[in-house]
Amino acid sequence: MLAFNLVLLLALLGSCECKRLWTHELLEIHTYSEDESKIKLEARIERQGRYLVGISGSGDLQYDFDNTTLFEVIIHHSSSGSESDYKPLPMAVPKKRLVDLKKMYDDIVYPAMKDCSNMPQIEGDLLWPWPRDLYTFDMCNFDKGNLPEIMSEGYYKIFCTFSGEVNWSLSYLVYVKTKLI
Ligand SMILES: *[C@@H]1O[C@H](CO)[C@@H](O)[C@H](O)[C@H]1NC(C)=O
Ligand SMILES: *[C@@H]1O[C@H](CO)[C@@H](O)[C@H](O)[C@H]1NC(C)=O
Repeated sequence: MLAFNLVLLLALLGSCECKRLWTHELLEIHTYSEDESKIKLEARIERQGRYLVGISGSGDLQYDFDNTTLFEVIIHHSSSGSESDYKPLPMAVPKKRLVDLKKMYDDIVYPAMKDCSNMPQIEGDLLWPWPRDLYTFDMCNFDKGNLPEIMSEGYYKIFCTFSGEVNWSLSYLVYVKTKLI
């Protein structure tokens, strides 16, 4: 659910509305849910035309986030893409209560997702209550939203994990290419 895309995003805090000096290509997405009666995920990378790539899928959320719902992002980077090169990056999101990530959601996730999904806008200071719903995604990517101006070229594996009543996760493989100016 929320997360699909969020993803990347989440990960990259310290953002601005400056001109981005990079482009990205989504290569893989994987999902995991311990209990599909509470959260059922389905996601795929979709290509339209030569360049337009996004994530489509759905997240059927049938439990309530609460103070025990924790969220964490871990990012591994590799310049070459070879498995032995991947190293953890410090820019990820340490394990935190999901309800406390309202600002990150508003700054990074929601702007990236609002035109390609039915992700909700949440009132107040907490990401709570979060409505149960069938969330759907149609060609979401990270072209929008406040992300850093500069990112090192290479492959990024981004793991977004949710724990608490149900453990579930999303992971992405993204290739970032520096833009020449
Ligand atoms: C969750 O934590 C907030 C403080 O961040 C507190 O006000 C609220 O009562 C807690 N909710 C529950 C159900 O414990
Ligand atoms: C869910 O994740 C937590 C924290 O990562 C872990 O301690 C727990 O064993 C997991 N629960 C199950 C049922 O796998």
